[in-house]
Order: sequence, then C-alpha cells, then structure tokens
Amino acid sequence: MPFWKSHKKYSAGTWDDRLDGLFSCGVNYSGKTILDVGCNMGIVAYEIAKRRPAYIHGIDILKPHTRVARSIFLGSNVESRFDAMNLGSRKLQSVLNDSYDIVLLLAVYQHVRRGLGQEEADRIFTDIINRAQTIVARVPDEDDIRLQSLIEGAGFTLSDRHKSPRGSTVLAYHRH
Ligand SMILES: C[S@@+](CC[C@H](N)C(=O)[O-])C[C@H]1O[C@@H](n2cnc3c(N)ncnc32)[C@H](O)[C@@H]1O
Repeated sequence: MPFWKSHKKYSAGTWDDRLDGLFSCGVNYSGKTILDVGCNMGIVAYEIAKRRPAYIHGIDILKPHTRVARSIFLGSNVESRFDAMNLGSRKLQSVLNDSYDIVLLLAVYQHVRRGLGQEEADRIFTDIINRAQTIVARVPDEDDIRLQSLIEGAGFTLSDRHKSPRGSTVLAYHRH
C-alpha cells in the first residue's frame, strides 16, 4: 500500500468525518460566540463560519495548526481568534472569555487526559464547560463516559446524539 494511503487510514479521519453530525444536531451557530477547544487547523471553525456566528475562538496546542487557522480566517468576515496553547497552561485563564454561547469539545478530551492525566483534564474541562450555554462534543467511545459525566454534572441535558460512520458519537447538550 502506498505510504499516503496507509498514513491517511491511520489519521483521525477526513474533513467530512470530522464534520459529520455537527450541522444536524439541532444547534444553531448563527450569531453565536463559539469556543473550539482543540481546533486543529480551523476547518471545523471554517465550516461553522459559513453559518455566520458572531465570534469564533480556537485553541490548539500546535502552533502550525493555529497558524493555518489564522490564515484561513483572513478570508472570512467572522471575528476570530486562534491561540496556540496547551490547555494545561496557566495562561489559559487569561485568554478564555467568561462565557461562550457554544463550546465545541470535538475529539479532544481523551487527548488531553492522555497528555495531562485525568485529574488535570477534568479540572480544565470543568472550568471550560462552566463557561458554556450549549456544548457540542465528539467522543470516540461512548462507553467511556467521563466527559459526559462532567458535562451532565455541570447541569447540562443531552438534546441530540448522532453516531458517525467511523464510530465516534456527536453529543449536543444544553444547560437546563
Ligand atoms: C483528534 S484532534 C481533533 C481536532 C478537531 N477538534 C476536530 O474535531 O477535527 C485533537 C486536537 O486536540 C489538540 N490537543 C491535544 N492535546 C491538547 C492540549 N493539551 N492542549 C490543546 N490542544 C490539544 C491536538 O493538537 C488536535 O488538534
């Protein structure tokens, strides 16, 4: 098998895979302030920008990713900010807004937990969850319920659940 095919298979999926379920989960992105945690190269943010949100704030640990995201948004009228930052950084507090209409937690909690440990990941995600009115999460394995417990424990109710073809699940939550 050629290198690029095996590499592609090994990676986290195509852009279509990453977008699957985000626009059919009953969340209206128009006019909203959005935090995209682990925003990667901003492709999800770019697609959401087409729905005319008020503001998109992306954070990712990898500088090259946030650089691409910033470049993409040079061509968008949507106000945006992309920070290259480890969620475990003490500086996180100084870049986050007090509140966002929508927080995207797309395939990121498990990565942070692997990198920083469960206690630290839970502390960070609880703080972020408390800034949200609506949460759209993608979890790779629905049976690993840690993130769902954090969200529900913070007073959110599940409003939509969508299983993606590659096995991940998109969960939409609203504050009750
Ligand atoms: C599986 S990707 C998901 C990307 C994007 N949310 C999506 O759904 O397409 C996980 C992302 O989280 C970022 N990430 C992992 N650990 C992080 C950390 N400690 N702080 C900030 N970003 C992190 C990675 O760089 C990567 O872009």
